[in-house]
Amino acid sequence: MPRTLTGITPSGTLHIGNYFGAMRPAIDAQAQGDCFYFIADYHSMTSVTDAAERRKNTLGIALDWLACGLDPNVSVFWRQSDVPEVCELMWMLGTLAPMGLMERAHSYKDKTAKGISPNFGLFAYPVLMAADILLYDTHRVPVGKDQKQHLEMTRDMAIKFNEAYGETLVVPEPVIREDVAVIPGLDGQKMSKSYGNTIEIFGDEKALRKKIMGIVMDSRTPAEPKPDADRNLAIQLLKLFASPEVAADFEHRLRAGGLGYGDLKKALFEHYWNHFSAARARRAELAASLDHVEAVLRDGALRARAVAEQVMGRARRACGLR
Ligand code: ADP
Ligand code: TRP
Repeated sequence: MPRTLTGITPSGTLHIGNYFGAMRPAIDAQAQGDCFYFIADYHSMTSVTDAAERRKNTLGIALDWLACGLDPNVSVFWRQSDVPEVCELMWMLGTLAPMGLMERAHSYKDKTAKGISPNFGLFAYPVLMAADILLYDTHRVPVGKDQKQHLEMTRDMAIKFNEAYGETLVVPEPVIREDVAVIPGLDGQKMSKSYGNTIEIFGDEKALRKKIMGIVMDSRTPAEPKPDADRNLAIQLLKLFASPEVAADFEHRLRAGGLGYGDLKKALFEHYWNHFSAARARRAELAASLDHVEAVLRDGALRARAVAEQVMGRARRACGLR
């Protein structure tokens, strides 16, 4: 059975763009079996240098994923740093990563262009990511378009390793989520934590209601028909949460005239809030039993490590280390 693996960087609070673009497809993929999902806490070290913040983000992401339907009985779910062998494989792969290839990495170039002062960790990021993937005999890696180049680099390193030391590592295939719609943010641009236009999956009710009620609309009166109702941001977001019939009814009423923007935004808030109500309850339960969450991650680490040890054994033997 092909193995699917992906990593989630604990760099902040998750929003509904992350949910529809990355989490839900990953959770749905559990129906096909053999899924490996991990929290990339080593990766977060390239941007977060506060231990308490890392701990908080890591736990928050674990709660989010479990609450939204990651089933640890089906998927292997662990913290990257609980399997430190990944750093050993990173070294092996690093010796096969050509400098020219590393220097062409978009994410590194983008970050330094934005003025982030580069460190070796940021530069080596794609090698650690390759190790994440290759350590678990992964076949498929679902990622956003921004990670495509990292997957090409991963394949390149796996092929080079196999050429140098004999067939050892599985060469993975990227699964680029082209078909997932880009979820718009509160200002109509792509929702992203870097643009400050997010609707969080979980958060304070009052603050979230205020965010949604604060979406800026045009100055047409409620009575005026709106032939462009399908392009209305609140309608687009409502379609994510309401049934197709309910969403079509709101769109129809907006188009015909008579539906005010305030009432539309109120409906959007209610549908959004209800959509996550079961997950919110589960998250609160999980947050009240952190020992259980820790046990889930530890069990995941044991299962992940069992695979990692086999792959490392093969890799060490292949390169003549022991
Ligand atoms: P952000 O842009 O908020 O920093 P990330 O880059 O951390 O988000 O996103 C993690 C994953 O979530 C991405 O690889 C992508 O698949 C998905 N994602 C993020 N924002 C959106 C969006 N607005 N619409 C659809 N998917 C998204
Ligand atoms: N770099 C990925 C991101 O920023 C996260 C990640 C780390 C990852 N290791 C991975 C994704 C391995 C897939 C496979 O989104």
